[in-house]
Amino acid sequence: MTCSMVVNSKSGNTRMVSGAIKRALQAAGVEFIHAAALSDGADQEQVMCEAQGACAADVVLVGFWCDKGACTPSVATLLSALHGKRVFLFGTCGFGADRSYFQQIVDRVSSNLAEDAELAGWAMCQGKMGPAVKQRYEAMLEQEPENARYKMLLDNWFAAKDHPTKEDLDNMAAAAKKAVLGD
Ligand SMILES: Cc1cc2nc3c(=O)[nH]c(=O)nc-3n(C[C@H](O)[C@H](O)[C@H](O)COP(=O)(O)O)c2cc1C
Repeated sequence: MTCSMVVNSKSGNTRMVSGAIKRALQAAGVEFIHAAALSDGADQEQVMCEAQGACAADVVLVGFWCDKGACTPSVATLLSALHGKRVFLFGTCGFGADRSYFQQIVDRVSSNLAEDAELAGWAMCQGKMGPAVKQRYEAMLEQEPENARYKMLLDNWFAAKDHPTKEDLDNMAAAAKKAVLGD
């Protein structure tokens, strides 16, 4: 069984998850024949080059950070080029209270997959957001202290601040192992 992994991570959360998944699969005997980091602004040629490398493996694992409810264009382009592949998708996003939210994001992201590719499984978890985001929410609340939505956003910033946790990493690794190896 061979795997490849391509990861698009802006601030490191998804990269952290990718390391946990890779270690768990390697420990289970999976060989990685291609691993790459994809930047948000990767051009078409770079993305196609990574897709070609990734497609040499039996299963392709693609990591993405959630950008405005979906993935970045570079991940969308990559997914559209994974012809005939089994693909495991994993991602991190700022909100994480319920699985239906994750499902919506995965539906949007996986709609970019090549028509002849198969979604072998997916896993998502919450990922911390930077201090600038917190400052923005605090400034918004200062203007409108009773705004329930702004309060929720700030509460969520605190809820996210320690994610991905060890438990998140273990869950994501277990989901990847199940999708790739069936155990
Ligand atoms: C520009 C921008 C847009 C974002 N959009 C969303 C979003 O729509 N939904 C969400 O839950 N999180 C959103 N987030 C939060 C990130 O998806 C989250 O912090 C993620 O873990 C970042 O992953 P990374 O550290 O691998 O880059 C956004 C963050 C940024 C910077």
